[in-house]
Amino acid sequence: MASDSNIPKHVAVIMDGNGRWARKRGMPRHMGHRSGVAAVRNIVEVAAKRGVNYLTLFAFSSENWNRPREEIRKLMGLFVEALQREVDDLHRNNVRLEFIGARTQLRGGLLDTIAAAEARTRSNSGLRLQVAVAYGGRWDIVQATQSLARRVAAGELEADDIDDAALASSLALARIPDPDLLIRTGGEQRISNFLLWNLAYAELWFCDTLWPDFDEQQFDNALEFYAQRERRYGHTGEQVEAVS
Ligand code: IPE
Ligand code: IPE
Ligand code: MG
Repeated sequence: MASDSNIPKHVAVIMDGNGRWARKRGMPRHMGHRSGVAAVRNIVEVAAKRGVNYLTLFAFSSENWNRPREEIRKLMGLFVEALQREVDDLHRNNVRLEFIGARTQLRGGLLDTIAAAEARTRSNSGLRLQVAVAYGGRWDIVQATQSLARRVAAGELEADDIDDAALASSLALARIPDPDLLIRTGGEQRISNFLLWNLAYAELWFCDTLWPDFDEQQFDNALEFYAQRERRYGHTGEQVEAVS
């Protein structure tokens, strides 16, 4: 297992493969999403146990609105159900839960459940869990740009003062360090409009396992991969070794 000093502070996960998991078993796609919730529960627990500080899970993308209406309806219902069921345990385990994404696109029942879960866990000091719903990396950059533009228009900010830090602090993950490790299950090796800005220097780990089958062993494999990486951020290997 990876040693403590090499544990990523922030792990982001594209939880892909629920639909195929269900189809392989002759079940409707939403049964795959249902099984995916159990995998989420498991991974939240393992991440906290391994000493990860921040976990960001991609649950529903901006583009997933293009799916059949019935699948979307079932998914949104499942989010409400899972949140209501899990919030007590999350709270008991000192997890602080937050949602990122275009909240105005979500229906009232889900919004209320989200707001209640966030309020309930706000003062918790353990794992910080971000769930991305109706989230897209492009949406995030656009909304950050709009908020900066509003500040310029209000005379609070000069256009020339907009730099990396100003933009980063207007994004959904403003107060959270960038992900160190990105995990994507389900066999595809793409970002699918997840955290476009924040993933700039993340280490990328892909596996073929479909999300409902993702377990502790696989998470440890990803951590092991991460522990082997030398993060250079544009420097040479010699420079990195000189300071470590
Ligand atoms: C990921 O699983 C969950 C969501 C995108 C909501 P998919 O539903 O994309 O599963 P596949 O990729 O079709 O198997
Ligand atoms: C990415 O999965 C989004 C989530 C896991 C929520 P998709 O299944 O939507 O990605 P594509 O369409 O295969 O790129
Ligand atoms: Mg998919």
